[in-house]
Amino acid sequence: MLRDELQRWHKGVLAELAAAASVEAVEQLRVAALGRKGELTRILRGLGQVEAAERPALGELANRLKESFSQALGERLGVLQKEALAARLEAERIDVTLPGRERSVGGMHPITRAMGEITAVFTALGFATASGPEIESDWHNFGALNIPADHPAREMHDTFYLPDDAGGGKRVLRTHTSPVQIRVMEGRQPPLRVIAPGRVFRCDSDVTHTPMFHQVEGFLVDTGVHFGQLKGVLEHFLRRFFERELPVRFRPSYFPFTEPSAEADMGCLFCQGGGCRICKGTGWLEVLGCGMIHPNVLANVGIDREIHSGFAFGMGVERLAMLKYGIDDMRALFDNDVRFLEKFRQ
Ligand code: DAH
Repeated sequence: MLRDELQRWHKGVLAELAAAASVEAVEQLRVAALGRKGELTRILRGLGQVEAAERPALGELANRLKESFSQALGERLGVLQKEALAARLEAERIDVTLPGRERSVGGMHPITRAMGEITAVFTALGFATASGPEIESDWHNFGALNIPADHPAREMHDTFYLPDDAGGGKRVLRTHTSPVQIRVMEGRQPPLRVIAPGRVFRCDSDVTHTPMFHQVEGFLVDTGVHFGQLKGVLEHFLRRFFERELPVRFRPSYFPFTEPSAEADMGCLFCQGGGCRICKGTGWLEVLGCGMIHPNVLANVGIDREIHSGFAFGMGVERLAMLKYGIDDMRALFDNDVRFLEKFRQ
């Protein structure tokens, strides 16, 4: 029966419409259902065979169903177009608050890069960064660090002395970053976990020394701090910084501000222990000074040495950068030859 066929058609196309998930799918359905070569046209061709008396009613039904489908189609299309627009707006969204893309000029200096990489390893361990002045009081640079005026260690530092300050206080260009330990500990109580990267100055200049160079100082003060933790932290640091499983050893040494003191060596990167020019045939590279903070230093900054203990370490950035990036002449770090610096562009 034509009437049934029309009803079935209507039901069928509405179901298909509900399932159509895109504007294109709806469009295809419209052509298939209503187009000249479409399903409805085919059904209505049968109208010729129907008795004349029934034709008007069937024609009217066909029109109603077609109208109802067309309307549903329009609504569905509206919904899908809105969805498509929303998806497109979301996908093409522009955050106008973002800064523009800067074209980088130049690159990071290898020293800056090494300091950043050293800092990153320690901040991942929960160390905070601190800094102090490059023009430092004699007390912070020496006295508070257990290096009194007549101490022979002062001579090792080749200090640049400056005119006294207004109050008659002795001033120097800091010879190491260790005074930052003092400045931090003066102002805060433990627990402390700090690293301090910075520039230091010594009156010394030859193939392996420049009057200005860089150090990273680090220290940790808490209750129950011991040498084993210091070893663990520094081994971890060296392996992370050099991105490989290095052997690390600790040799007894002397620094006035630590007791006991040690120097850390790592296995030579270039000969894997066999001995080469870089490690002077020893198979080891000396990279760090460290130790347990001397009780006198804690006393100088008002930290109770009966309750707290700490460790400290200091390293030269130039040396670490040269080892990591394979730079064999330290002067290249300060020549600012763009052809050299270009190689470290990231
Ligand atoms: N300040 C020392 C130097 O310049 C390096 C150093 C050694 C720092 C041992 C430390 C330390 O904190 O514990 O040679």
